[in-house]
Amino acid sequence: MRLLVCGGAGFIGSTFVRQRLREHGDEVVVLDKLTYAGREENLQDLAGEQGFRFMRGAIEDPAAVAEAIAAAGPAQAIVNFAAETHVDRSIADPDAFVATHALGTYVLLEAARAGGLRYVQVSTDEVYGSIEQGTFTEDSPLAPSSPYSATKAGADLLVLSYHHTYELAATICRGSNNYGPYQYPEKLIPLMVLNALHGDSLPVYGDGMQVRNWIHATDFARAIGHVLEHGAVGEVYNAGGPDEEANIEVVRRIIELTGAAQSQIEHVKDRPGHDRRYSLSSEKVRALGWEPRVRFADGLAETVAWYAENGWWWEPIRSGEYREYYAQQYGRALQD
Ligand SMILES: NC(=O)c1ccc[n+]([C@@H]2O[C@H](COP(=O)([O-])OP(=O)(O)OC[C@H]3O[C@@H](n4cnc5c(N)ncnc54)[C@H](O)[C@@H]3O)[C@@H](O)[C@H]2O)c1
Repeated sequence: MRLLVCGGAGFIGSTFVRQRLREHGDEVVVLDKLTYAGREENLQDLAGEQGFRFMRGAIEDPAAVAEAIAAAGPAQAIVNFAAETHVDRSIADPDAFVATHALGTYVLLEAARAGGLRYVQVSTDEVYGSIEQGTFTEDSPLAPSSPYSATKAGADLLVLSYHHTYELAATICRGSNNYGPYQYPEKLIPLMVLNALHGDSLPVYGDGMQVRNWIHATDFARAIGHVLEHGAVGEVYNAGGPDEEANIEVVRRIIELTGAAQSQIEHVKDRPGHDRRYSLSSEKVRALGWEPRVRFADGLAETVAWYAENGWWWEPIRSGEYREYYAQQYGRALQD
């Protein structure tokens, strides 16, 4: 298939691009704005590979989108990962979240409609909000609680409206919390791994009892590919990981894996409106033949090892803008 992958220089998008090129023989054009989280380093092992091309541009720019679709031969499908993805940043500064999720998704949908392209929107379990017990299905009501999840939910509704109104061949795939190599260090797991390795404190929000349903990025990327190939248009598919774990337990496991000290844990003021638990039922996508392959304990050990061995990837981040972000967010400087 000839794919336009938007946001393909990010954490999950780059994982998806690697799989589609190497395991499925697809041709892929990546369109990515390269925000602070988008990095060409995430794709550097693919540079020069047949069928792969990178273009820098924003999804809210119709000319850039048209150029990228044409460059893909033209593209047969658009898979949209492009997003602002950090809840803390959406609380401090929601602007870009609205522009990318609302306007950007609209521009892509219009381009897909004009070209008669298949469309897959990558979305999140956060659109359902928090659940104390049980799991969300695709029919659960949307109850997003942060500017991040609210703008993602808005984008999902726009996608479904394009199917309903214009018969666009669109599908949505909602994932639970992802982890794995190439994740920007503001997110829980890489944050804790790098802080643990550097002797920094490990800032845990509130009591740390927020429960997340962890999925390895390779499993989520395969689910998205599976939905692209086998999903019914106009449908939503949840893809959750095999294991749930409270944040504080994740931090304890990272301490064990890195040899850091329990005393590095520092409980800090909780995020405003912090959801307590996310949990997804994945029965619908499992019925299509997908299942997660990576158990959390194995995937976490492998992820910790990847960060420990790939300083070339995170050193420029830890010495750049991220230092200022971190100092502002947690009120203390990172160790060198
Ligand atoms: N990380 C998770 O736990 C998780 C879970 C479920 C769903 N998702 C969804 O998966 C997608 C990818 O998430 P991620 O964790 O890889 O995020 P990421 O922040 O690592 O990557 C996002 C990418 O989108 C690009 N981008 C941002 N705005 C853009 C714009 N306007 N135009 C073009 N490119 C733009 C960035 O440069 C970056 O490369 C997002 O849609 C996110 O909502 C993430």
